Amino acid sequence: MDLARGHVLVCGGTGCTSSNSQKIIEEFEANLAAKGLQDEIKVIRTGCFGLCALGPIVIVYPEGAFYTLVKPEDVSEIVEEHLLKGRIVKRLLYQETIVDDENIKSLNEIDFYKKQDRIALKNCGVINPENIEEYIAFGGYTALGKVLT
Ligand code: FES
Repeated sequence: MDLARGHVLVCGGTGCTSSNSQKIIEEFEANLAAKGLQDEIKVIRTGCFGLCALGPIVIVYPEGAFYTLVKPEDVSEIVEEHLLKGRIVKRLLYQETIVDDENIKSLNEIDFYKKQDRIALKNCGVINPENIEEYIAFGGYTALGKVLT
């Protein structure tokens, strides 16, 4: 059972991978371990979020902070400010998600995503595509279950 208090989702899609997202994952893992946070904060490589031009993309939950154009050298600031002190790094946020000094919008409320109704890719960028338990937790195989029962 995953008892993490936070999740860092790093896009592992083709565009973000070509923009060095694997190095960002390694930086998160190293920085979290250095702060003793490796059991509290989980780093997950996801599929493409769909906004490749702004990659590498990192989303931090539970806040849903949507960081864009993240560089490996930005990771220590995200870990120190956001994950350790609870202060979202505004300079890296997708600007449309900023409501005011205290609040941010969810991704589903921004123009790019609110017009989309993803069907086959609805969990892309949300779950770890290599973890079948996450897929099942998000309703995976429900249709197969209906057919068989
Ligand atoms: S590859 Fe990262 S958003 Fe598409």
